[in-house]
Amino acid sequence: MSARHASRYRPLQARIPEVEWDAALPWIDAIHALKRSRNAVILAHNYQPPLISYGVADVVGDSLALAQRAADTRADLIVLCGVHFMAETAKILNPDKTVLIPDARAGCSLAESISAADIRLLRAQYPGARVVTYVNTSAEVKAESDICCTSANAIEIVNSMPGDTVIFLPDRYLGAHVARHTRKRLVLWQGACEVHERFTGEQVRALRAPGVRVLAHPECPADVLEAADFVGSTAAMGTDIRRSGAQRVVLITECSMAANLAVEFPTVEFTQPCNLCPHMQRITLPKIYAALRDNTGVVEVAPAVAAGARRALQQMLDVGRREAA
Ligand code: 13P
Ligand code: SF4
Repeated sequence: MSARHASRYRPLQARIPEVEWDAALPWIDAIHALKRSRNAVILAHNYQPPLISYGVADVVGDSLALAQRAADTRADLIVLCGVHFMAETAKILNPDKTVLIPDARAGCSLAESISAADIRLLRAQYPGARVVTYVNTSAEVKAESDICCTSANAIEIVNSMPGDTVIFLPDRYLGAHVARHTRKRLVLWQGACEVHERFTGEQVRALRAPGVRVLAHPECPADVLEAADFVGSTAAMGTDIRRSGAQRVVLITECSMAANLAVEFPTVEFTQPCNLCPHMQRITLPKIYAALRDNTGVVEVAPAVAAGARRALQQMLDVGRREAA
């Protein structure tokens, strides 16, 4: 193995067998060469496996970080390794750039759960109430919303809305979590993440042991969140491990998250009931290579829809910038 390959492999050594790394190397090298020749950036969600996160990605993050980096990038081409709504978000924020998703079938049960027409009906039912929409939705749904949010900023965004009643869509579990942390009255939708809704409080309690810190994603049901020590976005989980110094961590979220964090925190012992997101798993190194080589999986959003969705996303990014200032 060359010195360059060995230094990239070193942090992954304990997690990925050398034979697997060797098999992936031709893809990794070919992807890097194409990235350079096309001035491309690869943005990967935290649920992508380590061969993608550590092998080829330029940015790895939660939905909020991916949206922020998509808004700031100087690359000509963005390859989004994640699910379709994330690639759509990158395109909406970069209408003049090409955005590719290596497998356009990578969907999301939350994005599937609600349509733009549903929002128009809710607005008629609750006149004057602002609509806060989780980014896990289609561009059409975002375009009907006042503002977007991610799991990292949902409470802050809801609190920034005028009025007592806020329509919060489409995740009923994230919505219930926000409702427990705000004075606003929330109108919720019945959407759910097919991965996180499968966790149970009983499962979490069975994993409890002295010295164990349980981290859960807010897309989980309420009894799971009640049994956890910390509730937060995929990025906030990493921050919590760093801050708390926990050495034994139970992760209640998608499987690949633990695989990535185990590389970042080699001395921490991770346990998790393993639920994989079938949509995230559609993205592979050969598909990333093919998308870059052939310009396949181009993400398009109709200009009128993109303009409405951009306004809602920009409102969200502006709230974040105001808070940071
Ligand atoms: P994060 O915003 O926490 O990255 O979550 C996105 C997601 O799809 C979780 O299932
Ligand atoms: Fe959607 Fe759930 Fe998969 Fe995240 S983990 S992309 S919310 S189905």
